[in-house]
Amino acid sequence: MRPIFDILARELGTAKVLRDEARLEAYARDESGLGPYPPEAAVLCDSVEEIQLVLRLADEHRVPVVPRGLGTGMTGGALATHGGIVLSTERMQRIKEIDPADLVAVVEPGVITGVLQDAAEAAGLFYPPDPASLAMCSLGGNVAENAGGPRAFKYGVTREYVIGLETVLMGGTRLRPGRRTAKGVTGYDVVGLFCGSEGTFGVSSEITLKLLPKPQGVALLLAVFADPVKAGEAITAIIRKGYRPRALELMDRASIDHVRPKATYPIPVGAGAIVICELDGDEAALAPAVERCAQACDESGATEVVIAADEAQRRRLWETRRITSPSLRHAHRYKVSEDICVPRSAIAEMLRRVDKIGARHDLLMATFGHAGDGNLHVNVLTDEDHREAAVAARIQGALGDIFKDTLSLRGTLSGEHGIGIAKQKYMPWEQAPELIEVQKKLKLTLDPKNLLNPGKIFPT
Ligand code: MLT
Ligand code: ZN
Repeated sequence: MRPIFDILARELGTAKVLRDEARLEAYARDESGLGPYPPEAAVLCDSVEEIQLVLRLADEHRVPVVPRGLGTGMTGGALATHGGIVLSTERMQRIKEIDPADLVAVVEPGVITGVLQDAAEAAGLFYPPDPASLAMCSLGGNVAENAGGPRAFKYGVTREYVIGLETVLMGGTRLRPGRRTAKGVTGYDVVGLFCGSEGTFGVSSEITLKLLPKPQGVALLLAVFADPVKAGEAITAIIRKGYRPRALELMDRASIDHVRPKATYPIPVGAGAIVICELDGDEAALAPAVERCAQACDESGATEVVIAADEAQRRRLWETRRITSPSLRHAHRYKVSEDICVPRSAIAEMLRRVDKIGARHDLLMATFGHAGDGNLHVNVLTDEDHREAAVAARIQGALGDIFKDTLSLRGTLSGEHGIGIAKQKYMPWEQAPELIEVQKKLKLTLDPKNLLNPGKIFPT
């Protein structure tokens, strides 16, 4: 047994240093479906000093450390693929400050995203980033993955809201990059560097977030189309009319068919696509704006358009979209959800190609996502045993074709889930060797022994 675990147990108490197999099971997986990768220990930190201690000792003893928020990542970023320690910040759940004058929140990394949103709204403020898992993911994980969500179309992703960080490097050095002010360009954009670094640069111990005033009102419409091309035209028409909805979501026929039995909205049989368009802002301007967006859908050939009459109906209609991913998961033995992003003008072509890829590899495909951003969750589904060599080869073939087509349409491998271990082998398809090399050097500057979340993002 490595002596570091005894030292940690002595310093932090055995309740915070989990070693037994049964307790470690919960830290061996995330939402990627990859693994299990049980760590040798999971250490539950309560403070920056404890994070510093773990990272100092791990550096001295050359033990890999994998930072973990609440384990909702979709690409294996929090998996202990090289053994060692999982450092969990799940207990650091304090909202230290919500300041309506400065429009700032200061939080610990284990705060659940939805909890901060509710606290901000109770103070008349607004924290926009809304990953689908917002009820169970943490802000530390959101920063590590630079999480997005439906509202990114108008408000941008997590990066836009992180203005300051307290972060600990491998070895235990504490850094406080960023600021509390509305603007600031002192030095390099180190905060930007850490956002989306997938836990390979440092472990956040405190996050300073920008807040916005809470929008006065929200309005939503759901439009049904016979096919996704018409839905794509509606999305373009809404944007061309000069509207900036906070969310513009799309679901294809296969997604709709999975959701229909559970949906509170009676989706017509034969629906080929659904668009959900949500606007927010000045109460008086909202009603005419949502009417004009509905008109744009009608003009693009919608077979049905419903505008939410009240808040309860708005929430019910959103459910149609929110239950998509869980419905797909429950219906099939195997599901992998990609998060490719293509230029908006290429959405219809990408959907056509996804259909062809499914047919070519004899796999069911379901696509939904943040169409306003061109960010599509292409789900590859099967009821066969995905571990069987022939099935695995078909899945890999389909994924390869999805990424090839995405890149040929000038898209990118990941719009919001990150690379982790799920997509690292495709990195050279998108990025030149020189660019990958620069990023690897940067990593080694911050973590010369390559111990913090090793083996992630880049091909090994
Ligand atoms: C979503 O937008 O629903 C998630 O990012 C994707 C997923 O859970 O597959
Ligand atoms: Zn998403």
